[in-house]
Amino acid sequence: MAGSIHGTLSVFSQDLVRELRSILAAPSLVFDVREEWASTRENHREKIREALSLALNEDLTDLALPPRPRAHSASISHCRFAGGYAAVSQPTCLGFDLELVARVKPEIIARMSREEEMKNAPSPAHLWTAKEAAFKSLAQNDEVSLMSEITIGAWRRIDGSANLSEIFEFRVSIPQTDRFDGQGVVFTGESVSIALFLKALST
Ligand SMILES: CC(C)(COP(=O)(O)OP(=O)(O)OC[C@H]1O[C@@H](n2cnc3c(N)ncnc32)[C@H](O)[C@@H]1OP(=O)(O)O)[C@@H](O)C(=O)NCCC(=O)NCCS
Repeated sequence: MAGSIHGTLSVFSQDLVRELRSILAAPSLVFDVREEWASTRENHREKIREALSLALNEDLTDLALPPRPRAHSASISHCRFAGGYAAVSQPTCLGFDLELVARVKPEIIARMSREEEMKNAPSPAHLWTAKEAAFKSLAQNDEVSLMSEITIGAWRRIDGSANLSEIFEFRVSIPQTDRFDGQGVVFTGESVSIALFLKALST
């Protein structure tokens, strides 16, 4: 990936995945993002599914539905410059989102966010990808059905990353709860923002 013009992808490596496992306390995390899986590339969805199937050692190639592995929680995202997958062991639920920063429109985010969220987020792209990742995690168990039900906050910059100059942690609250829960991270490159959100399944 060295030499990528898209910042984040130039630092995307298995070292980074090891670092994210530690930050998120998720030793089972598998995560891969590649430019060759961008939505502009032929059969990108099939290729992501094949790689995910290989990583989890089960057939997840049915494109009709989001992947539902037996013993893991998995999430897929693709944009014009890259695509990828992330997964962890159950009972944790994972959501992953990747978006081109230039495509994030503050007026659209404002429609599904509170003023406080907009004010506290490091950038509109951080808030957008965090919300999408949280939605993809929480929707797996029908905890939410709309992105506007999710509040993102408790942003904290994590220092000392060996791989990234900037990585932010966030938490999520939903109407049924009155506290922030789960744990997410967002990291951005020159033009791509990537978010992961993990939450233990409510019992
Ligand atoms: C479902 C949704 C999260 C997809 O996100 P996106 O940014 O359009 O696209 P991405 O490339 O990031 O993600 C696509 C992947 O999401 C996954 N996905 C689709 N629906 C999903 C759902 N309900 N829950 C979790 N993951 C889902 C799929 O795996 C899909 O990839 P695949 O079809 O190749 O397997 C998006 O449509 C959304 O935000 N829905 C929220 C509903 C809402 O609040 N709507 C109001 C908008 S105004």
